[in-house]
Amino acid sequence: MLRVAIDGPSGTGKSTIAKATAVRFGLEYIDTGAMYRALGLKARRTGVDEFNEDAVREMLGITSIDFNGGATMLDGEDVSGLIRTNEISMAASNISKLAIVRAKVDEVSRHLAATKDVVMEGRDIGTTVIPDAEVKIFMTASPEIRAERRYKQLLEAGKEADYDQILKEVQERDYQDSHREVSPLRQADDAVFLDTSNLNIEEVVDAVADIIMDKTGRRA
Ligand code: DC
Repeated sequence: MLRVAIDGPSGTGKSTIAKATAVRFGLEYIDTGAMYRALGLKARRTGVDEFNEDAVREMLGITSIDFNGGATMLDGEDVSGLIRTNEISMAASNISKLAIVRAKVDEVSRHLAATKDVVMEGRDIGTTVIPDAEVKIFMTASPEIRAERRYKQLLEAGKEADYDQILKEVQERDYQDSHREVSPLRQADDAVFLDTSNLNIEEVVDAVADIIMDKTGRRA
């Protein structure tokens, strides 16, 4: 059994690295943030107050989240594109504070990891979701570098971008994600710390492969 947990703040390149690692080692890639995003999207769409526990509980009772060949499915609809906006980033961060929401996402995540070798990325995979994962990595990069990467991504996609505003949002979300009461963003004691500030994607993927090799003896 091989379960690779990759945690860290947004914008560190976690998703890109986790996907590449999945291909390299033949693992299933699971993006837990996408589930919080899907729930944030549903709340915004249906007018559910994402801070109101009772309203959110009711929403969870009539909501299904799943993955289908890499696509994020909300009640059977592919919402992969719709969840990648600034508005939904904040909605996801807000709704992820609720313990009932975390319990739902944890349940789906553990179910997905029960029968397959996985690389799972999020904020609390190594600490809470799969505390006995064979490999745990805590990936980070400075807020300025992360804001710059996001800024460039937006410009490349032909979208408008304001660096200072993006940096402010990065810092806001970091603070919120690492200061919430339930399962805050935190490095597990036995996680390997990986600072990607001065590394390119290929270098990070290689570093992750080395860590996996080191911990499990498995080669790509
Ligand atoms: O990784 P991401 O940016 O797509 O995650 C969106 C939000 O979901 C993030 O602000 C915090 C929350 N999240 C979480 O609380 N726990 C996880 N394991 C993954 C994401």
